[in-house]
Amino acid sequence: MAAGHSRYSTVAIGLHWLTALLVVGNLATGLGSGLWLDSADPAMRTTGAGPIALHKSVGLSILALTLVRIGWRVANSPPPLPAHMTRGEVVLARTTHIGFYVLLLAMPFSGWAMVSTGKRSGPVSVFGLFDVPPLPLSPALGDVFHNGHGTIGWIVIATLALHVAGAAKHRIFDRDDVLARMWPRRRS
Ligand code: HEM
Ligand code: HEM
Repeated sequence: MAAGHSRYSTVAIGLHWLTALLVVGNLATGLGSGLWLDSADPAMRTTGAGPIALHKSVGLSILALTLVRIGWRVANSPPPLPAHMTRGEVVLARTTHIGFYVLLLAMPFSGWAMVSTGKRSGPVSVFGLFDVPPLPLSPALGDVFHNGHGTIGWIVIATLALHVAGAAKHRIFDRDDVLARMWPRRRS
């Protein structure tokens, strides 16, 4: 990418919004999983297999997209932050972004580790297209990954709230181009 660019690249924007959509969808199917798995109604428990199978496929897709995204990010620097930002704001923005990359890896890995060590451990079918083998982990760690996956989910939600608040502050109070440069360009 050329030096002095003022927008994110089309690839970075595409990966950002596709990931955001998939993560929000997976938070919903993940949090809803309790409803399907714990239901007293056996029919509900059976239909739970559908949303949870989707949850696993989407989760592993997020892992793959994040690895591609980190590679792209290393090779392509983002546009510089606006000059009006204080040092504290820059540190907060950078910490949130790095935190997100860590969470985008930790979230699917903990899910994959959980299903590799749980009672129903086995290969995970990705959209019925191919199987991903279980990770070679001790079943004794099952509870750790189960609890960890849930806790990391809440950290993702808290980080997302902070991230969206930051984007809203730039748009509403600072009135700068931080949201616009991550937004797909409108054809004129
Ligand atoms: C779970 C959903 C989301 C995730 C995982 C996520 C993740 C990220 C990450 C990792 C970056 C840093 C990009 C870089 O490496 O420079 C970023 C940038 C950005 N995100 Fe998100 N994001 C999400 C949702 C959103 C939403 C809903 C909004 C808008 C309300 C938003 C607005 C932005 C903006 C404006 C930037 C650019 C910040 C800058 O220029 O420094 N994101 N996002
Ligand atoms: C970014 C990707 C992911 C997100 C955001 C996510 C989010 C969540 C959340 C919020 C829950 C509810 C946790 C709770 O209620 O304690 C959950 C549950 C679950 N997740 Fe994920 N997850 C992701 C990836 C994965 C992956 C890759 C797998 C497996 C391959 C997976 C398997 C599961 C299963 C089986 C449950 C139900 C756990 C139970 O028995 O209660 N998740 N997920």
